[in-house]
Parts: sequence; structure tokens; C-alpha cells
Amino acid sequence: MTDTPQPTGRDLPSIRVHPPGPESAAMGARLHEVESRNVTYVSDSWPVFWTRALGANVVDADGNVFVDLTSAFGVALLGHASPVVQEALQAGASLIHGMGDIHPPAPKLELLEKLAAISPWPDARVILSTGGSEAVEGALKTGALASGRSGLLAFEGAYHGLTAGSLSVTPRAHFRWHFEDRLYGGVAFAPYPDPIRDPTPDGARSLDAIRAALINGAPNGDPIGTIIIEPVQARGGARIPPEGFLAELSSLAKEYDALVIADEIMTGMGRCGATLASPGLGLDPDIVVVGKALGGGMPISASIAPARVMNAWPASDGEAIHTSTFLGHPLSCTAASAVLDTIQSADVPGQARSLGVTLLDGLRDRVGHLPGVADVRGLGLLLGIEFVESDGLTPALGRGARVAEAALPEGLILLPGGDHGHVLELTPPVTLTPEQIEHAIRTIGNVVERTP
Ligand SMILES: Cc1ncc(COP(=O)(O)O)c(C=O)c1O
Repeated sequence: MTDTPQPTGRDLPSIRVHPPGPESAAMGARLHEVESRNVTYVSDSWPVFWTRALGANVVDADGNVFVDLTSAFGVALLGHASPVVQEALQAGASLIHGMGDIHPPAPKLELLEKLAAISPWPDARVILSTGGSEAVEGALKTGALASGRSGLLAFEGAYHGLTAGSLSVTPRAHFRWHFEDRLYGGVAFAPYPDPIRDPTPDGARSLDAIRAALINGAPNGDPIGTIIIEPVQARGGARIPPEGFLAELSSLAKEYDALVIADEIMTGMGRCGATLASPGLGLDPDIVVVGKALGGGMPISASIAPARVMNAWPASDGEAIHTSTFLGHPLSCTAASAVLDTIQSADVPGQARSLGVTLLDGLRDRVGHLPGVADVRGLGLLLGIEFVESDGLTPALGRGARVAEAALPEGLILLPGGDHGHVLELTPPVTLTPEQIEHAIRTIGNVVERTP
């Protein structure tokens, strides 16, 4: 292996060898021999193997230094290997694993109290879990119990995870089609308001579809008890609903006695400029799910609801009805507690707001006028550049993915979004420096210009 550079986290990219270099390429070949082929995409131009990450910097096996504009799926909002998380992990190392729902580790209690405190409810109750999909499962089960109806309403373009329950509310055919006949059929999908092609810019088309589903039930006839929605659609292409839409959805849910789950797995923890994005956007949920940035890189997630909703669960009689081996994992709880403290003390939402404005303004100036760019949008540090064909409406199939691939040799780590890979999505950390932002904007502009 090449000698590994020690970036500060605030460095600009430094590419020694065109990625993937020989070390990453060799590892890609080995990976191909041992990992199930449905998991990692390996080609001549993708991927690079990470060996180190700090702040916004990532180092690969060939000694290339990148700037990560994804925070690794939105997780490293405080930066990779944040000192806050490192200190928490050192302090928590005397209790690495526990018995979450039997003899609870003390750090679990501390985290539950902190999660209840950031929730909109004075009597919040929490179910901890490990990943986002698992938190969605907990929320869907809670919704079914509390509403007494199993039917679900979700949105086109949504991503809630790939476990059986969460996949049933994730509409993208790519993930579903092998399993369609095994998924729960009581799910209605309504259009999510679209920033550029919605015939009703106030979201009226979606609201009509929501009302119709609440009246008529799911396609299989099950009456709808729970609606699940992302306050800003994340993997759906950073789609921000129009003002008033989420408040109107909340009123409709109340009118038809349905519960609302806010999936804040990407939008929460400060990314969109508030600890939770829902209240500021007018969404009044009954259940909130959080994950990703919550653990600062440690896998932990949670479903949170007021007692009136969560008490639909029967009390445990010694055999928990919904749990898992790693529920309340002490080291992850310790990390998450430290992250929650930092979100408040360092005003992470405020940092995300101001960096987000700088990035959005800069990207609009640099790429907003380029051919095929239909929209440059964002809320806090969740941003998207949407590409279309020359008619100005048809999604430019895969252009977001092509731009992300072409940006890798320039030292930027990026991901596509949108159902057609036609959005370039940015979910960077709050540690981005002004120099990294300026460099990223310039580089993205150059790459977009030469990548049809
Ligand atoms: C909004 C949202 N919900 C749920 C999930 C699923 O989370 P996980 O991949 O941790 O299971 C994701 C993942 O990208 C997400 O963006």
C-alpha cells in the first residue's frame, strides 16, 4: 500500500494518480471475488477504496486526497472522524456492548432523554434502532398500531429504505421489481410536488391525490392509517415542497384521522438548517424518524412519537415485541449523545444554513445558466442540480451520475439523485472551508460544462 497522506480535513483535493489508481483497481478485482455482485458497482472508473477520512477529506488506497461533498450518505455532517465523536468513543470504550432491552446500558438512557428533548412533544417516547430502514420499520409498525389501519400512503420519488416494510413504501422500480409480489400491497403512492414540472406549483395535484387515497384507501382496499413523507425528498433529488404544502398535508391527515411519519433520516440533525426540518416547513408529524448524522458515523437511528401514539404498543412483559440485538448499543448511544450536544452548542443548524446559502448562490452563478441545467436548489446543506433534455422538462437520464463519475478524478466525491440519476446531489459536512467551497463550485462548473 502507498504511504498515506495525513490530510487536515480542510485540504483541497490532491490527486496523485488518476482514480481508481492501481491499489483501488486491485482491491476492486478482489472485491469482485468475494462480495455479492448486487452490492458494489465496479468498473474501470469506479470506485476508490477509502483508507482514511477526516473533516471533509477522504484518502484512498493510492494516496489520493478528495473533498467529500456527500458526507458519506449524509452521515458525517460534523465532518469525518469529528473530534466530538472521537472523544465520545474513547470515553465510552469501557462499555462497548450491552443488553439493550434487558439490562439497559446507561448511555441508552442519556440518549433517550436527549432525543425526547429535541422532539416536538413534551411526553415523547423513543424506539432506538441501528439503521434508517430499521427506524422506518419501527415507525410503520407504530403507525399501524396507533391508527388501527394497515394501509399506507407514501410518495413517488421517496426513499425510505430496502427492508421489507421500508421497501413497501419506497416506490422506485429498480429496488422493487424482483420482490414486488412479496411486498405489502396496501400502499398508495401520491405524486410529490415537483419543482420544475408540477402543473400546480402549490402542490394541489399532490394534495388532490392524497385526499383521494385517504377517502378510497390503498390499491388493495386497505384503509389508510399512516402517511410517510420526507419533509425534503433527499435521494429523490433534493426536492423541496412548495410553501404551505406540508401544512395542508398535515390538515388532511387530521381530517381523515391518519397519522403522519416525518422521515427526517436525511433532513434531521441540522442538515436543513434546523434540528428537525418538519416544524419550520409546516409539517406536523405524529412520528419522527432520525438516523444518519445522529451517530456521527456510528450506526444508530430512532423512531420518536408522543405517548398518545407510542402507547399503542402493549407494555413489555419481559419479551420485547419490537427489538434487536444492537438496540441501545452503548458506544453508538454515547456518540449520538455527543452529536446532539454539539448540534445545540455549536449551532450546527445555523452553520448549515449559512454554508448552504454560500454554496447555493455560488452554484447558481456558476452552473444555473448552463445548457441542460433546469434547477439549482437546496435547503441548508441538502442541495441538488437537476439536469433535463433540451425540451426543458424530460429528465436527462443518468447525467447526475455521469457528472459525479467525471468529478472523481478532479478530487470531488459526489453522488447522483432522482429516479433517473438526473440530479447531482450535495450533502456536505459543516466543516467545509471557504476555500473548499470555492474550489468545489469551480470544479463542478467545469465538469458540468464538459459532461453531457
Ligand atoms: C430519507 C431516508 N430514509 C431512510 C433511509 C434508509 O436508511 P438506511 O440506508 O440507513 O437504512 C435513507 C437512506 O438513504 C433516507 O435517505
